[in-house]
Amino acid sequence: LKYQWRVTFNVSKHKCVTKDCVCCNWETCPCADCKVDLAFLMDGSWSIGKRRFKIQKDFLAEVAQAINVGVAGPMMGIIQYGDDHVTEINLKTYSSSKEVKSAIDKIVQKGGLSNVGKALSYINKQYFSDANGNRGGAPNVAVVLVDGWPTDKVEEASRLARESGINIFFVTIEGPDDNEKHNLVEANFVDKAVCRTNGFFSLPVTSWFALRKAVQPLVKRVCDTERLVCSKTCLNANDIAFVIDGSSSVGTGNFRTVLQFVANITREFEISDTDTRVGAVQYTYEQRLEFAFGQYNNKAELLNAIKRINYWSGGTSTGAAITYTAEQLFSKSKPNKRKIMIVITDGRSYDDVRAPALAVHRQGVIAYSVGIAWAAQDELEYIATDPDKEHSFFVDEFDNLYKFVPKIIHNICQEFNSQPRN
Ligand SMILES: *[C@@H]1O[C@H](CO)[C@@H](O)[C@H](O)[C@H]1NC(C)=O
Repeated sequence: LKYQWRVTFNVSKHKCVTKDCVCCNWETCPCADCKVDLAFLMDGSWSIGKRRFKIQKDFLAEVAQAINVGVAGPMMGIIQYGDDHVTEINLKTYSSSKEVKSAIDKIVQKGGLSNVGKALSYINKQYFSDANGNRGGAPNVAVVLVDGWPTDKVEEASRLARESGINIFFVTIEGPDDNEKHNLVEANFVDKAVCRTNGFFSLPVTSWFALRKAVQPLVKRVCDTERLVCSKTCLNANDIAFVIDGSSSVGTGNFRTVLQFVANITREFEISDTDTRVGAVQYTYEQRLEFAFGQYNNKAELLNAIKRINYWSGGTSTGAAITYTAEQLFSKSKPNKRKIMIVITDGRSYDDVRAPALAVHRQGVIAYSVGIAWAAQDELEYIATDPDKEHSFFVDEFDNLYKFVPKIIHNICQEFNSQPRN
């Protein structure tokens, strides 16, 4: 069962709704779907004043209530920024909304400027570290509350934070009007800081007294984990399918080397349901789904599953294996993931590989081929996405396979980084 979020008009009486629209209360419904690591950057600058600072605290308390903080769901932390930034609440310190709310109540305004960029650098480098409670499998979300506009630049710090996988939201309160725009340190700072996805990551609020109304829309968005996709890196944004030749010519010992190769590539990625997912197919004349995308959602289990793949032994139908992989794995790929196929083979295929390869390329799959020993160069090139020299590799011995691990990772990342994003 998968649960979706819905916050009803009354924040304290939120409900979650299953896909079949069955409503249930928090008590009866395992609403763990809003599993995010959520940090708020609150504005502590002098310009905001005492009264509005209090409104900000009330807002944060309402958000804490609405998201239902807990170790199985969202964890929430707060950083206050001014001239400098102070960590008010660490991500892992409190595991209930009640505790977070009483900690918010004790926050004292620090004063100073509005150095948002500086605070964003801090969250990127330190706040979302594992030691501070970053859970890995939960998306990182930072919500920046800004009274008016920042006093430093935010573009660069935001970009770096996004590239390391942090989803940045901006809630701007009483932002600059036309007469004030010349005061800005950086024009259109919100657009420069967030992903350009139809305003999903920005929430302009016209007055402090209207801030309460932003609680529900904000909670809905930060819990919409399927849409927290633009802060992606080459290591966390893929569905990777390994297509492994299990034909007789490979042999037991070499097959183990191939599995090591698969494991060594896998190890480099960030593995979870919201990050990179890995699936595997072994083939001879026939095909076998060893495991599907998302079947193993942490690295340790996944590496174990790779190790447990049993050598099959038989013929070599690489073309059929590619078609099977498209049907069994890529058809279940999430729309926001990059589809990567890595075919590993040691011989010429008994069937045609060209047409099946072309078909998966057309479906947006980025295909790599790794040939060993008797693998056919022409087939490796058919399988590989263009340009071939970046997607196709050949080694004469299984013992040299390990050399291509860093090369493949490098090429996957280079290709990712060269594509336009956001
Ligand atoms: C996999 O990694 C291990 C540890 O770094 C290394 O000893 C081994 O040679 C690698 N094997 C392959 C096939 O990549």
